[in-house]
Amino acid sequence: MLILANDGISSKGKNILEENGFKVITDKVDQDKLIEEINRLGIVGVLVRSATKVRKDIIDNCPSLKLIGRGGVGMDNIDVDYARSKGLVVVNTPAASSQSVAELVIGQMFSISRFLPDSFRNIGGGDFSVLKKKYAKGAELRGKTLGIIGFGRIGQSLASYALGLGMNVIAYNRNASTVKIPLTIAEKSIDVEVSTLSDMNELLVNSDFISLHVPKQQNGEPVISSLEFSKMKDGVRIVNAARGGVVDEVALLDALNSGKVAAVGLDVYENEPNPNKDLLNHPLIACTPHIGAATSEAQDRIGDEIAGLVIQHLK
Ligand code: 3PG
Repeated sequence: MLILANDGISSKGKNILEENGFKVITDKVDQDKLIEEINRLGIVGVLVRSATKVRKDIIDNCPSLKLIGRGGVGMDNIDVDYARSKGLVVVNTPAASSQSVAELVIGQMFSISRFLPDSFRNIGGGDFSVLKKKYAKGAELRGKTLGIIGFGRIGQSLASYALGLGMNVIAYNRNASTVKIPLTIAEKSIDVEVSTLSDMNELLVNSDFISLHVPKQQNGEPVISSLEFSKMKDGVRIVNAARGGVVDEVALLDALNSGKVAAVGLDVYENEPNPNKDLLNHPLIACTPHIGAATSEAQDRIGDEIAGLVIQHLK
């Protein structure tokens, strides 16, 4: 049986599939050639990350297709309900990359607190003493309040790192609950309880840093726009490693340029893979190209899990 891993798969995942009798193709097929290639080769399973879209057109026109696998969390690039209504199996690996995304967010928070992206850009040709003054007003993380919007696996993983750094953590989730966050320090484990807020406004008003961990909203509306920015502390720092569009990019640029927001870390964008250049070139934004899950560890776990799911459903 043929599997097309169109956005790649770890060699471990590929090996597991091959040991179980599947043939795995990893040569990337352009989006507009996918239907033709799937039909020409008789592909049974398509594995994707966030780049390849599996929409109604593919589902309707590729009768050999039995399974769509998303190696990762977000399924907004797949017409999941429609595929399932047509009898296709749709699977993802929601837990495998949480730690990697959380670590990227922590990296972004350190980075935007010390002007690292702009400093990296300018140190080569710049006057050292001018730059020292320009980057003189950094901020520490310890003792600051991190507000986490969306308190699922990634939000909770981020909370464990932030608590370990000595930050105060507050969280908002649609369904309020109290969550035990396990911290392991010097081989001792303790649980820290975080009770999620039922009102997002409380988080907006009290946070020094805000990180979002929510999926793309069903209605396509942003979670953070001008109204939400207006409620935040002056000088708040924001990270979005969730999905492009959950923070309104125009409102974000306004909030940055007015000084309301001090700095921003972005890993995701409304118009991927061609983000708004004003975001990419802004001195107060740390930009990364959607690499939250891009670690060897996360991709190995994803490869293992997605291979297991393919075997479970197709063998
Ligand atoms: C996810 O939803 O799993 C992350 O956004 C990572 O996406 P990627 O697999 O395209 O890197």
